[in-house]
Amino acid sequence: ASAEKGGFSSFMEKEINDQPDAVAQTLLGRSDLDGKLTLDELRIDPELLKQVNKIIVLACGTAAYAGTVAKYAIENWCRIPTEVELAHEFRYRDPILDENTLVVSISQSGETMDTLMAVRYAREQGAKTISICNTNGSTIPRESDAVLYTHAGPEIAVASTKAFLAQITAAYLLGLYLAQLRGNIFSGQIKDVLADLNKIPAKIQTILDSAGPLRELARSMANEKSVLFLGRHVGYPVALEGALKLKEIAYIHAEGFAAGELKHGPIALIDDGQPVFVVVPSPRGRDSLHAKVVSNIQEVRARGARTLVIAEEGDEAVKAYAEYVFYVPETPTLLMPLLTTVPLQIFAAELAAAKGYDVDQPRNLAKSVTVE
Ligand code: G6P
Repeated sequence: ASAEKGGFSSFMEKEINDQPDAVAQTLLGRSDLDGKLTLDELRIDPELLKQVNKIIVLACGTAAYAGTVAKYAIENWCRIPTEVELAHEFRYRDPILDENTLVVSISQSGETMDTLMAVRYAREQGAKTISICNTNGSTIPRESDAVLYTHAGPEIAVASTKAFLAQITAAYLLGLYLAQLRGNIFSGQIKDVLADLNKIPAKIQTILDSAGPLRELARSMANEKSVLFLGRHVGYPVALEGALKLKEIAYIHAEGFAAGELKHGPIALIDDGQPVFVVVPSPRGRDSLHAKVVSNIQEVRARGARTLVIAEEGDEAVKAYAEYVFYVPETPTLLMPLLTTVPLQIFAAELAAAKGYDVDQPRNLAKSVTVE
């Protein structure tokens, strides 16, 4: 078994370390040298895709957070209204969809029962269905009009890591492809986004190589009872995913919040010594989100929180209010989740291992939920 783990202490650690490859393999062969997407594998009439006027992303668990990240990018690039919904909520609420609706399902296994049922329902209503999936020939892709495979390789650990980054990558490719088909105002920038995506694997490697102090922090926090995660914009689903990882494998109460909601409730939870991770947007972003999140760090710090910050390299502004900062390499805002998620995965895996838990097989959870 240790050989299968490639020398790592767990499959999860191996899979975290596989992420540069998972993203690179998912990008491979899907664009040409001129920066044009070549997704012929989609086998869905491009004319039909041009008519899409609404996108609904359906998934469960970690895959749903990949979908939430994708929503920000797809709406920005394609200007098509995009919703993300948990598959089990979607199928029981009489949703509105027709032949101009594109339903994008995301599933590592391709076997999650609720996601499968939601896709079936969407097809019955006449929607077009594309599945983003990591498992060749599994049920959800077989029952969809088209599939875009993630090439993360088999994921063994129950808690998803490399499949998540590959799902985000594939969803970005799909968003860029739709923008290309539409030839909209953004389509001139597709080439630049692809170039930035191609730089992501090396940047993930930089993160993996610099995680020593983060691992030390995680081990020192093995007795924490509760950890909060704040994020905004694409950092919000990253915060949710960071919290989910900690719940899943370390059995610590953890919650992710949209940083803007802080004063609408979560700030009441803050007292002396409460650890709070804050996922900070790039200071180079066009809007004022960076300043707003920095002031959130100040607000929780002033109430006694331990502020654990994930920020972009060169962001000096966070230093004054952070007990700890983990810097990720620079990348455009919409691509940041491919980097900022990684330290949160490492944190959860290291902390769970320090508690002596089986990080690959957490209690009560299954890799793939094939029942309702
Ligand atoms: C289970 C797994 C999660 C996964 C979710 C969705 O809960 O433990 O890691 O995110 O199912 O699985 P899927 O295979 O559809 O991506």
